[in-house]
Amino acid sequence: MKPSLMPSSPILPGEPFRPEQTQEILDRFYRDGFAVIPQVLTPGEVASLRQVTDELFADPALAGTRYIEGKFILRNTLELSPLFRDMLVREPILNLAQAIVGQDCQFCGQNVLRNPPGVAIARWHVDDVVEFPLPDGVARHDPRLRMPVQWFTVQMALTDIESEEDGPTQFVPGSHYSGRKPNDPDHPVFGGRGPVSMLCRAGDIYLQNNQCWHRGAPNRSHRTRYILQSQYAARWATRRFGDYTRVPVPEDYLRSASERFQRVYGYRPAPAGPSY
Ligand SMILES: [Fe+2]
Repeated sequence: MKPSLMPSSPILPGEPFRPEQTQEILDRFYRDGFAVIPQVLTPGEVASLRQVTDELFADPALAGTRYIEGKFILRNTLELSPLFRDMLVREPILNLAQAIVGQDCQFCGQNVLRNPPGVAIARWHVDDVVEFPLPDGVARHDPRLRMPVQWFTVQMALTDIESEEDGPTQFVPGSHYSGRKPNDPDHPVFGGRGPVSMLCRAGDIYLQNNQCWHRGAPNRSHRTRYILQSQYAARWATRRFGDYTRVPVPEDYLRSASERFQRVYGYRPAPAGPSY
């Protein structure tokens, strides 16, 4: 065999799950809005990903740029290290993404959250908007439906998150069927069930329907919490909201265009508001 010219990556290629394992995971994911899968990443991969994250947060060239948001979110990671690029196609993760949003699924985001004590996205929310809203008179979506998923997040724990104090992601099971935003700022309840904590060990991963009510519990421990997240979308969505919107318009035209045009084209920044 010809020797590879590329240096070997600490990220392994991995193997897809067997079809029956995938089905069991997807059944939980569609029912609850999340599904944990223990020990997918090796200790070596976890250590390498934490190390590159720390190096990037410490890089003075990235301070104050679009690569670091709020001092604890590392964004645009594919641009920053081949390790993150390898993680996008790491199995069984890609195979699960293909099973959920299609064989031709595409990347739609990758970040690392590095939460020191006291820092978290602790507000209960769904990402962006409620995609399938219901009017006041309709209590919930029919449980016989499988709620559509057009994009979703794979969360990968890079540290142990073993107690409430460690700032786990929390979910309200089944709340992607609510058709609503979280119904209480502190203790939302859906179908008689309150929040559950995603306690996990470094190397565990969990799938997250972004329409399921969730938050990061406040980190009250002395540990920093590391989560790598990869996001995958259906091909139609990346074509519609990605490819079709990358139509160059001359900069001098944009600068002098009406505010209405600038907003519709996307030249002006989006109104303030979190979208994670
Ligand atoms: Fe979120």
